[in-house]
Amino acid sequence: MARRILVTGGAGYIGSHTVLQLLLAEFTVSVVDNLDNASEAAIDRVTELAGKHGKNLTFHKIDLRDRDELKKLFASTKFDAVVHFAGLKAVGESVQKPMLYYNNNITGTVVLLETMAEHGCKKLVFSSSATVYGWPKEVPCTEEFPLCATNPYGRTKLFIEEICRDIYKSDSDWNMILLRYFNPVGAHPSGKIGEDPCGIPNNLMPFVQQVAVGRRPALTVFGNDYKTKDGTGVRDYIHVVDLAEGHIAALKKIFEGSSGGCEVYNLGTGKGTSVLEMVKAFEKASGKKIPLVMAERRPGDSETVYSSTKKAEKELKWKAKYGIEEMCRDQWNWASKNPWGYGKPDSVQ
Ligand code: NAD
Ligand code: UFG
Repeated sequence: MARRILVTGGAGYIGSHTVLQLLLAEFTVSVVDNLDNASEAAIDRVTELAGKHGKNLTFHKIDLRDRDELKKLFASTKFDAVVHFAGLKAVGESVQKPMLYYNNNITGTVVLLETMAEHGCKKLVFSSSATVYGWPKEVPCTEEFPLCATNPYGRTKLFIEEICRDIYKSDSDWNMILLRYFNPVGAHPSGKIGEDPCGIPNNLMPFVQQVAVGRRPALTVFGNDYKTKDGTGVRDYIHVVDLAEGHIAALKKIFEGSSGGCEVYNLGTGKGTSVLEMVKAFEKASGKKIPLVMAERRPGDSETVYSSTKKAEKELKWKAKYGIEEMCRDQWNWASKNPWGYGKPDSVQ
């Protein structure tokens, strides 16, 4: 019998790509999402892209903090594991509204973990972030680096990691994998699903994409005086389809394991790319000129962050396949086919 996976936040950017790969890998998938930062259209498109596997996807519009609704779902369906993406992720907003972040991300996760335990489902893959490395003293970042957080969003990731480690210490039946994502970009090569942030994008590539389709006049480059190859910040960009595959690898490890555990893995490519290099690659892929405005450094930004990929390669047998050329090609394919994302011009800012 196909294994059934609950995916929280499965209508979102990384979630929708992962749900598709899960369906293609013959898992049965239930998505829970409150559509706070997503559109149900993403679910329809994933169903279509999955072809004959599309029938194995069900969607539930539920807020994770709604304990009664979540309990009902767990009572009616037996899940073999949960992949937990649901959460708010805008760093700046988290500084302005910390309680919104603690309430949504921490409370949502605690309710989920309690409900899982009550129903005997003790297998979890969690979306953590390279943000827990802060401004690392050296690169590449290995999983053993000291952890820190510089804003409430980052603290929710760090706290949830610690909560998971504490739960495992208290009950070794749990099998948990915490995945620290570096910078997910790109879209499914079909151009049918991709990132569609609400409001003004915080992250580099969604912003670049909106400049390319004429929704914004220019990209503001936050700092060109870093000690990097061209003065701009360096990050480890990873194709979202590679990232999605990382979750399948994590689930395989969990299902193959004969005992519990709580392990953490970086999901990155191990390569650092500057803002200007990324813009150049996108201009090449799209044929569009991206006007730039040089500005001050963004508070809280690190200079250079990229991943050590060794642990994931060795233990998950997973390695990113795509480079920045493919990331930009697929990002542009999605953007040019869906200049307004899943929405209509009058419903977006
Ligand atoms: P996203 O906003 O596209 O997806 C998150 C989804 O969770 C959305 O569909 C949203 O509607 C849903 N959601 C939020 N709160 C919810 C709640 N209380 N109940 C039910 N659904 C809820 O974001 P994403 O980029 O796909 O990120 C997924 C996860 O990965 C997040 O936890 C994020 O913090 C983490 N992450 C993202 C990045 C990145 O750069 N995109 C990097 C590192 C980690
Ligand atoms: N940048 C600009 N202009 C913009 C946006 C970004 O110059 O309009 C620069 C940043 O200064 C940085 C680089 O582009 O040098 C990447 O910035 P992003 O905002 O795309 O990504 P970050 O590395 O700052 O952070 C992202 C998520 C975090 C997550 C982290 C690691 O926002 O939540 O990746 O996964 F923790």
